[in-house]
Amino acid sequence: MDKILSRNFHHPHPLNIDEYQQAGGYRSLDSIIGQPRKELLATLKNSGLRGCGGAGFSTGLKWSFKAPDAPHPVYLVVNLDEAEPGSFKDRQVLYRDPHTIIEGVIASSYILEADKAFIFIRGEYRKGAQGLEAAVNEAKAAGLLGYNIRNSGWNLEIDVHLSAGRYICGEETALLNAIEGYRANPRAKPPFPIAKGLWGSPTIVNNVETICHVPFILHKGIEWFQNQGTNGAYGSHIFQVSGPVKNPGFFELPLGTTAREIIYEHAGGLLEGRELIGFLPGGASTQFMLPKDLDIPMHWDGPPTVGARLGTGGIIVMDDSLCPIDFMINLMQFFTRESCGFCTPCRDGLPFVKYQLEKFETGEADMTDIDTLRELCDIIYPNTFCAFAPGALMPIKSGMDKFETLFHQHIDNHGCTHPSHTPSTDAINNKVDC
Ligand SMILES: Cc1cc2nc3c(=O)[nH]c(=O)nc-3n(C[C@H](O)[C@H](O)[C@H](O)COP(=O)(O)O)c2cc1C
Ligand code: SF4
Repeated sequence: MDKILSRNFHHPHPLNIDEYQQAGGYRSLDSIIGQPRKELLATLKNSGLRGCGGAGFSTGLKWSFKAPDAPHPVYLVVNLDEAEPGSFKDRQVLYRDPHTIIEGVIASSYILEADKAFIFIRGEYRKGAQGLEAAVNEAKAAGLLGYNIRNSGWNLEIDVHLSAGRYICGEETALLNAIEGYRANPRAKPPFPIAKGLWGSPTIVNNVETICHVPFILHKGIEWFQNQGTNGAYGSHIFQVSGPVKNPGFFELPLGTTAREIIYEHAGGLLEGRELIGFLPGGASTQFMLPKDLDIPMHWDGPPTVGARLGTGGIIVMDDSLCPIDFMINLMQFFTRESCGFCTPCRDGLPFVKYQLEKFETGEADMTDIDTLRELCDIIYPNTFCAFAPGALMPIKSGMDKFETLFHQHIDNHGCTHPSHTPSTDAINNKVDC
């Protein structure tokens, strides 16, 4: 597999524009700018690229929903909000190779005929945003941005926008409100942003990793892209591993690599004397997978075979020194804090879920609390305004099924007898050097 997103990471500093171009950077634009947009879009659609922000929706299909006669201005919004506990892939590209992001933004904006691109960055990635801003200025000075780019008659501006810093800002419509200067509450859908987004104009929102793949697919071709994946998947992905492993970190690997290979080969396996009891495959808002699921390929269709989802590919490993219920409480602590507060089932329901879980840890729970907890999840799950609360409940609902006996043990033992200590979500999230 060719490294794509991490191909320049071995350099001691992020490449400046001259170094980046010497390393082959921006060459893809020769085969993109000036070419018929319809053909480029068809190539992207046929490549099988799927959005890397967590849902895995076909990127080409999403872009094809933009009407050919859509009114201008058209906006591209690059989602680099990345606040999902356990996920730290996007920040690697931001801090280590900002020109790769800009190349992706130019190529994508050309296809979409976007007039302006916003790169929306998690508030804590302040230094990364400064580096990206400097790279944007270099690209502008080199004539890659601005007016009549490469005599194509097409203009593009890039705006680097630092988030005020809430998890919900990553939800695409809350993000649009944040850019417009409003409180970051999600908007009702439809209308979808592609029809009516920023200031009522057509707006395409994509994860930054998705955008970075675009120029490579168009430059090197579909066959090349599809050969980068494995076990039936296409392309590469930056997997991240946190928790009690010998070599935690991020690894760009073929999409479809098994969880076993990621955890035991690349992340070095569990710490000495520890035993794997499960893992979240793609950040905090995904469902638990168990040791028996280790050979499942980590691509969009792999984890769903055991009721989970790939999410961001940020694997959080759990070992036998950890009580899964304590871990779920820790996750709920994060989600209750990050609820935007707009709808009651999420704002008031999630703290109730956390309270119910705590009863098992402290020994106050009896058998009726298992039913109460399930009922609560079932009521909240389909009744919230956005996907935040259903995401928050994914580890809880799956944890109740996959660690069911543990809930009973906690009742029988009048509380948690596990000598565990859960790392805080900040620690899981690899604290950022701002
Ligand atoms: C609560 C919540 C938080 C989200 N946070 C992010 C995020 O930080 N980054 C991201 O790319 N997508 C995030 N998403 C998904 C976005 O709404 C959107 O689907 C995504 O940016 C689309 O990009 P893609 O098609 O390239 O995956 C979040 C969704 C929800 C419901
Ligand atoms: S589900 Fe939560 S985050 Fe989403 S709108 Fe309701 S309160 Fe806000």
